[in-house]
Amino acid sequence: MTLTAPDLERVVSEAKRVLAQNRQRGTSAWDGRRYDFVCPSPTAYPFQWLWDSSFHAIALLHVDPELAKQEIRCLLQGLQADGFMPHMLLWEKNAHERALAEYSIRLAHPFFTATTQPPVLARSIERILDATGDVAFVREVLPPILRIFDWWRDVRDPDGDGLVAIVQPDESGLDASPKYDEAMGIVLGPPEEVLPALRRSMQRLFRAYDGAGQRREPMLDVFLFEDVMVNSIYADGLRALGRLCRAVGRPEREAAEREARYRATLGALVRKCWDEDAAAFWDLSRVLTFSCLFPLILPDLDPGIARRLVERHLLNEDEFWLPYPIPSVAASEPSFDPGWTTATTWRGPTWVNVNWYLYWGLRQHGFADVAAELRRRALAMAATSGIREFYDPFTALGEGAHDFGWTTLVLDLANA
Ligand code: GLC
Repeated sequence: MTLTAPDLERVVSEAKRVLAQNRQRGTSAWDGRRYDFVCPSPTAYPFQWLWDSSFHAIALLHVDPELAKQEIRCLLQGLQADGFMPHMLLWEKNAHERALAEYSIRLAHPFFTATTQPPVLARSIERILDATGDVAFVREVLPPILRIFDWWRDVRDPDGDGLVAIVQPDESGLDASPKYDEAMGIVLGPPEEVLPALRRSMQRLFRAYDGAGQRREPMLDVFLFEDVMVNSIYADGLRALGRLCRAVGRPEREAAEREARYRATLGALVRKCWDEDAAAFWDLSRVLTFSCLFPLILPDLDPGIARRLVERHLLNEDEFWLPYPIPSVAASEPSFDPGWTTATTWRGPTWVNVNWYLYWGLRQHGFADVAAELRRRALAMAATSGIREFYDPFTALGEGAHDFGWTTLVLDLANA
């Protein structure tokens, strides 16, 4: 598990190759719009995904900042007038019918889905500003991004508690995570039964939403989940928006409002989700996944809570501190599936976007040594198996798609 200088060079050049290779350019049958973005995988995921592209933009900063801006501009073409941002934009729909047939998705329009994904993109804009100082770019993209966050508040916080809700599992991006098993009616059985059971359950969900309309879906309470990871990303985004509003000289009250909302969401996470005895953040689920640690990404999380999360769980070798941390599910959980025997996502393997977020979170909470070790092992993992979708946390064996888009965040780790 060493990481030599040639290893690091190889990881960097592989990541750059993937960013170039996964680039999709053309004119879409969707009103003749032009698209130019990096897809997660040309074979398995040839479309544009919301949180993937937000991560791609950060990785692209290490190739060419103009490509990072372009990634965001392309994505924002999907934004709707009311602030709804679809989780998938199907630019080259007709060319990828086979891939499309594999997904359980609901469409709001022939070219985009009816669901959203975590609003990572405020953090992406903050990183673009830090890397380029391009205030004009921020001024251009800030209004649409403010609308996205207002949509979350207006449509997805029906009880007004500061925590926003997702209405189906893939809105968190953690599609098949066992944290949703109970809410989806999945009973743990043989691995090969998990995926078919999930698909059946998704169809039930889709039938329940049929014809309801986006604003009514949360009211139906079919699957209403105030997810800890989603809310951590939402809160972090509001924090970033406060900073961005100031950077472009918008009225002070606009920045102050976002910061107040950031603190309200952080406060609600602590009040409603923090379990002092278990030293974990729970949402509706009591399954120990990386999500329980995710408020670590917030700089204003209470230092005592941060310490307990790190010492009790993150560094626990029976849970998350495996040879290649951080697994998506703690090794102590019955649903933990490091070898991907369920052939579906987020049930045990290690993902680079999770490590990337936690790396920066650990650093800002004063755990520089832990962060450095996490970085080293994440890069060693990519050096072992290439730029894969996810990895076996014991062996670093690559799993899922090859040449996977957001795993190129190793570029940001390599330069950290
Ligand atoms: C899978 C992941 C999701 C991701 C998508 C495209 O569905 O679970 O988070 O956005 O693939 O990479």
